[in-house]
Amino acid sequence: MLTLHFEKQNRTIEVEPGTNLREAAIANKIGIYQHIFKILNCRGRGLCSSCRVEITSGNVAPRNEVEENNLKKALTKNPNLRLACQIKVEDNLVVRSHV
Ligand code: FES
Repeated sequence: MLTLHFEKQNRTIEVEPGTNLREAAIANKIGIYQHIFKILNCRGRGLCSSCRVEITSGNVAPRNEVEENNLKKALTKNPNLRLACQIKVEDNLVVRSHV
């Protein structure tokens, strides 16, 4: 089992390796969306960019093409952004949401 700690929510959960980060948060009722995006999001298809997070500790695979395309503009302001829906958990992670 791997641990995911969500900084802003001060919650730590355990997940199986290979679990999708967004799905783990939702399954554990940890809100990663802000405002209206709690309802209006692309449900993990990598289209809306509303599941932005920063991984502040732990290793994740490099950004994939979906992330590079959808975060292109935002990455100029914050080069550490990731899309939770595109991340497979393969290490213990500390996650900062609402970035
Ligand atoms: S849920 Fe829409 S980009 Fe991740």
